[in-house]
Amino acid sequence: MQNQPVLGIDIGGSGIKGALVDLVAGDFATERVRIPTPEKSTPANVADVVAEIVAEFAEQMGDGPIGVTIPAVVTHGITRSAANIDKSWIDAPAEKIFAEHLGREVVLVNDADAAGIAEVKYGAAKGNDGLVLVTTLGTGIGSALIYRGVLVPNTELGHLEIDGHDAESQAAASVKTALGLSYSEYAPRLQRYYERLEALFWPDLLVVGGGVSKAADKYLPKLNLKTPIVPADLRNRAGIIGAAWLAADKVAHPA
Ligand code: BGC
Repeated sequence: MQNQPVLGIDIGGSGIKGALVDLVAGDFATERVRIPTPEKSTPANVADVVAEIVAEFAEQMGDGPIGVTIPAVVTHGITRSAANIDKSWIDAPAEKIFAEHLGREVVLVNDADAAGIAEVKYGAAKGNDGLVLVTTLGTGIGSALIYRGVLVPNTELGHLEIDGHDAESQAAASVKTALGLSYSEYAPRLQRYYERLEALFWPDLLVVGGGVSKAADKYLPKLNLKTPIVPADLRNRAGIIGAAWLAADKVAHPA
């Protein structure tokens, strides 16, 4: 991986965060900057905030690419879904909108894909050369499937239909909060979810990311699975680090 730090930007529901990433160390090379997500979070409004973050780092980052995450399916730079974001992202040429606004090369990726690749390259799944399935439990559920270090993008396993329901509507961390569930009450929902994932994908390792991963000792021991399951290591740095990694990788290996 390259020595020049790469800017990673993580677009979330409440905040847009960015930092320069040292891809050799797999960590931030600078402080993280956070700006609240605009109330009306259309691509154009979000691009304005992304530009503010880029301006903070412009002097230190040369003319390299920028990796940006979004909680949506992204194919060929087009955002294709909007489960928990403004519906104007559906079918928007978002990567192009950002690139034109910033005058720089932008690589736009799904948020869970970014977090997942970061965990495999530098975090909880580092060195695992088999099939790793990373899930992020937050407002929704994101997923990243990585086989022998290569990401299979846009798996969207938070929307697996289980018992007639969209999985994230039953097992996302936001559901725990909305229903006021204790970890003991939440754990059976995770059990149902992960046993389905396990039966369909037979991964070598499951990694649990998202805000609730910091309390993993309160629910992971309650799960009864065949697959080892571990908390994410990079926590809220994973999206930024993974976005930067994927941007550098795309530039190094253009399609
Ligand atoms: C979206 C995914 C996203 C996940 C986590 C889901 O609702 O469909 O694209 O990765 O939430 O933000």
